[in-house]
Amino acid sequence: MKALVLSGGKGTRLRPLTHTMPKQLVPVANEPILSYVFRHIQDAGIKDVGVVVSPETQNDVRKFLGKGSRWRVRTTYIPQQEPLGLAHAVKTARPFLGNSPFVMYLGDNLLAQGIKEFVETFRSEDLDALIFLKEVENPQAFGVAVLNKKGEVIKLVEKPKKPPSNLALVGIYFFSPSIHKAIDRIKPSARGELEITDAIQELIRSGGTVRGEVLDDWWLDTGKKDDFLAANTIVLDGYIKHDVKGKVDRKSSVTGRVQIEKTAKIVNSRLRGPIVIGKRCEIVDSFIGPHTSIGHGTRVINSAIEHSVILDRCHIENIARLEDSLIGREARVVRPKNHSRALRLLIGDNNVVEV
Ligand code: DAU
Repeated sequence: MKALVLSGGKGTRLRPLTHTMPKQLVPVANEPILSYVFRHIQDAGIKDVGVVVSPETQNDVRKFLGKGSRWRVRTTYIPQQEPLGLAHAVKTARPFLGNSPFVMYLGDNLLAQGIKEFVETFRSEDLDALIFLKEVENPQAFGVAVLNKKGEVIKLVEKPKKPPSNLALVGIYFFSPSIHKAIDRIKPSARGELEITDAIQELIRSGGTVRGEVLDDWWLDTGKKDDFLAANTIVLDGYIKHDVKGKVDRKSSVTGRVQIEKTAKIVNSRLRGPIVIGKRCEIVDSFIGPHTSIGHGTRVINSAIEHSVILDRCHIENIARLEDSLIGREARVVRPKNHSRALRLLIGDNNVVEV
């Protein structure tokens, strides 16, 4: 079995972060999402991984994944010139996939339990496709499935205005090579994309066996800011162990599960987990509260931060309270000491500031 990781696309929903980095590399608990995806592929014993990249994302993605040796897999990069849909990505990857069954993993999806057990299910049941579903409150933002009384998938629709159920399609799919014929038979959707949802529907129509497994555990599509903060919270809750390697001075207190990298310094501050503090960070006279990730090389001075993701090399100073925030790399959020009521801002394109 091979794996196909989709790491192309435009990433417009996580703008402005995705102006300067592919969304699949935005870190959750200080680890890029792709690294969780690759860990799951490694755990499933898959060795051959195709990575679909776009002209905009390919340099950063290649730099991070390299040949895949960190996960003991072989990566093959598959450039897709335009993001013409998930089924188009499969079509582009056909020379790599050959006649092999494969798992397609969307590079911005995170799944609690990984995919190991499903490799076995897919093999032993001789399916054409195994897809995963999860009950959600906003099905119109996803592909949506309808099951019959026996639990078989009978219908799939992509981002319907009036969803026929609340079961969203998770971005992880197992396929036999029969998906290629189905893709050849579909046409681009109204939004101009070759939809994988339509290809699976076509597989069902032509008598293929498609099974939908409803997941109980968490699944996250990290596309938007709030989903992204939710992903960070859940990963910090589930994966972070208490591991203080950095320097914590005597005036500081550390409670709960807190991970501090070796070269970080904590001075006169209170840290309450679960949180992660990256390499070379300085936290001075501050409070860092639950569900916060502080990226590498970030300085936090005289501030309080909670339920937020601050990426690398930021500077936060004199901010009484920062919460539910996602702050991109090298940002400065500073309130001058003798500040007047005036705000002085230098803000790039597509930013959001709530004061
Ligand atoms: O996250 C689950 C959802 O993913 C499913 O419920 C939907 O049925 C499915 O269509 C997909 O919807 P999204 O709108 O979230 O897909 P998005 O355009 O964000 O692309 C998902 C990933 O695939 C992302 O990492 C970028 C990559 N991609 C996307 C397209 C359209 C490519 O590599 N090439 C492409 O042409």
